Amino acid sequence: MFLEDYRRDQVERRLWGFLLREGYTDLSGLVDGLRRDPELGARLKNFLTVHVTEFFRDPPYWQRLAQKLHASGLASGRAWSAGCSWGAEPASLWLMERLHGHFWDIWATDTDVVTLQQARRLRFPKESFSPLLDPYRDMWRWEEDGTWSLSAAAHNAIHWELHDLLAEKPPVRSFDVVMSRYVLIYFSHEARHRVLENLVNAIKIGGFLFIGATETLLDAPQFGLKAVAPALFQRHA
Ligand SMILES: C[S@@+](CC[C@H](N)C(=O)[O-])C[C@H]1O[C@@H](n2cnc3c(N)ncnc32)[C@H](O)[C@@H]1O
Repeated sequence: MFLEDYRRDQVERRLWGFLLREGYTDLSGLVDGLRRDPELGARLKNFLTVHVTEFFRDPPYWQRLAQKLHASGLASGRAWSAGCSWGAEPASLWLMERLHGHFWDIWATDTDVVTLQQARRLRFPKESFSPLLDPYRDMWRWEEDGTWSLSAAAHNAIHWELHDLLAEKPPVRSFDVVMSRYVLIYFSHEARHRVLENLVNAIKIGGFLFIGATETLLDAPQFGLKAVAPALFQRHA
């Protein structure tokens, strides 16, 4: 059962809402339901995490990422957005690098089927639009229905995969950048350690791990990581 991999306080807080939504009156009913119906397990897992994301989330952190990438002379590279939600994170990296004439291959993975289906269209609701996208005007367009979408080149550069960080190895090894932002916070101490080990093993020596602005990685040295900027770490071993 996967629940032990998620943080207990997180599970407890959200479990009751799920119970009511699915029409159960107590936990034992839910446990029976989970045994009978694998789809219910998938829905529960989805309910336990939120899918909030945005373009260039925490903008100064993206600027520092750009500075580090450009200082290291990478004109192309391979990145992984692990827990990509509906796609703003991999799309932000693609836009940022494309503006500099760089061609990145980006793997974008999530464990939630529905969110990933939405992500792979690279078509976004009006509300997701941000003035931070203005410099990238040549790379997106408004659609007739009020949504906006990224240019065809983004479809070739971003590879979407259904992937569970708690159960599977990374999709490809030797990434120049792994972004795992606001995902590790949902995991139990033990699961976070296991996932972090997999994420770091997927980064090239000299490559970067990019985490959320409010996240901490006090144990970074234990994973062969060195802090090079707030929320940005470089693998050295
Ligand atoms: C809060 S969103 C973060 C989105 C994006 N990384 C960002 O920072 O804007 C967390 C995402 O992690 C995904 N997630 C949760 N558990 C996961 C797991 N075990 N494997 C892969 N993705 C997972 C959720 O489906 C959700 O889309």
